[in-house]
Amino acid sequence: MTTLTLPPPSLLPPPLSSGFAEPTPCSLPFYGRSLAEYTASFDLDLTALRHQAVLDVGAGPSSFAVEANRRGVDVVAVDPLYGCPMTTLATYVQLDYARVAVEGTRRLSGAPLARREALEQDRRTAAQRFLADYESGFLHNRYLGAALPHLPFLDGAFDVVLCGHVLFSPPAPLDPERLVAACVELVRVSTGSVRVAPLTGLTPALADHLTRALAARGIVLECRPGQGGRTARCSLGLLRRLR
Ligand SMILES: C[S@@+](CC[C@H](N)C(=O)[O-])C[C@H]1O[C@@H](n2cnc3c(N)ncnc32)[C@H](O)[C@@H]1O
Repeated sequence: MTTLTLPPPSLLPPPLSSGFAEPTPCSLPFYGRSLAEYTASFDLDLTALRHQAVLDVGAGPSSFAVEANRRGVDVVAVDPLYGCPMTTLATYVQLDYARVAVEGTRRLSGAPLARREALEQDRRTAAQRFLADYESGFLHNRYLGAALPHLPFLDGAFDVVLCGHVLFSPPAPLDPERLVAACVELVRVSTGSVRVAPLTGLTPALADHLTRALAARGIVLECRPGQGGRTARCSLGLLRRLR
């Protein structure tokens, strides 16, 4: 196992101001999944998405933007940490992947070691793919520094909007009003559906509050079992304008 020497926090640049008190890059790890995990958890058909404008919000070091773009999908990814130098993002990857691996070992202690290691390796490979593409993608506006609840796009700029492991993922404290503002903003920039996954922290009380608050703004939240889900925690939320 690699031994990591953690730099003091002062060596990492302060995160860009997101205008969104929580979740912040401090409370959410800069951690990402592979293309296969993305397509499964968001129930995506990459062939159907060819030439579609797709926005990934809170994309982290995901290789989804890299790989889907190579398959002809027009993906733009946003994250509050985009704009940091590549070396800084590589440091976040190194530290946050180590932290998440420790937590994962605790959480998935029943799973076979080989499966856990394969998943971890898959995600690290995905992160390296993102890092290799980051500077060129940033120059071509495929990666933009932005944070919910404010997205720098025109109304209806995207056919499909994705938001994974940002809104309902612990340890981010769930402030219902900020969640409503974030959902409204995601729907604003989409012409079609917004896919939000997983719904881990969406308790029945919060779901009830969100459903009512969004309905008052002309938005419906539909919850579906996730296609890639091994457990009920891996579920998918669809946000749409009420017709
Ligand atoms: C756990 S990662 C999720 C990465 C990817 N979406 C996935 O599902 O694999 C969470 C990401 O959300 C970003 N983030 C934190 N606050 C945010 C905000 N207010 N708006 C958008 N993204 C945010 C973090 O910087 C981090 O990269």
